[in-house]
Amino acid sequence: MILTSTLNELREARSGLLNPVGLVPTMGFLHEGHISLVRCAKGENESVVVSIYVNPTQFAPTEDLKAYPRNTERDLALLENEGVDLVWSPSDQDMYPPGFQTWVELERLTKFLEGSYRPEHFRGVATVVSKLFNAVQPQRAYFGQKDAQQAVVITRMTQDLNFPVEVIICPTIREADGLALSSRNSYLNPEERRGAPVLYRALSGAKEAFESGIIDSEELHTHMLEVLENEPLAEVEYVSVADLETLEELDGPITRGLLSMAVRFRTTRLIDNMIVGVDH
Ligand code: PAJ
Repeated sequence: MILTSTLNELREARSGLLNPVGLVPTMGFLHEGHISLVRCAKGENESVVVSIYVNPTQFAPTEDLKAYPRNTERDLALLENEGVDLVWSPSDQDMYPPGFQTWVELERLTKFLEGSYRPEHFRGVATVVSKLFNAVQPQRAYFGQKDAQQAVVITRMTQDLNFPVEVIICPTIREADGLALSSRNSYLNPEERRGAPVLYRALSGAKEAFESGIIDSEELHTHMLEVLENEPLAEVEYVSVADLETLEELDGPITRGLLSMAVRFRTTRLIDNMIVGVDH
């Protein structure tokens, strides 16, 4: 496994890789969710590149950039074990050189859901992913359904900017009790950790209700909120039933949609989602 840091090292190592190349962008502190993307990339490409970069521009000043968990040694051991060809850990200096002022912004998709609570977040994500695509020049790139809006945003951006990259969205990996794996789960104390699967229960309850014929968005909303209200530690930020493509809130009866939510456990913010009405 080749380790690179500077852009020159990355470009030189990239030129020696067999195509097609699959890229898995990450912020490190890897778990089985990330590893599932790596395995998916391994299965479909000659070479796999993983980037590890805690991108400062997708964190608001009030968010957890400084506290964000890091463990590079462990990450590298996991990636080596998966047979990854190349790891790129860029520096802030390379990603955001002094005087940096060029951003990638999506006009509408970023206004809803996560975007309404984290207004600058997707500008940071879209910009950094564009830079990763430019530098690594992968044929395919792998993202998780866990971050549903991020998946829609990156798919749209890739089409809009004509990146010659196939964006592949892989399923959410969960703990046995349903909690979606996330680097941020490490912030939860034992009591909060016991309460955290309530997101999964609310989503899967609403999905079951939908499948049994309750297709009214309001009713699905209520269904999710009722489950969440039973968990005293859970503070609901939003619960949503949205259009799968535009991410706009739906009302009335639906045939398909994205159920999603953000819930705080004290200072830890968890997000999760499920799609209804579409066969996977
Ligand atoms: P990070 O949170 O490290 O996640 C990296 C990738 O792993 C993302 O595509 C995310 O959706 C996916 N992922 C996280 N948890 C998952 C789970 N439980 N199951 C399946 N996939 C999961 O998302 C980011 O980093 C950043 O925004 C990034 C795209 C790297 C840009 O900075």
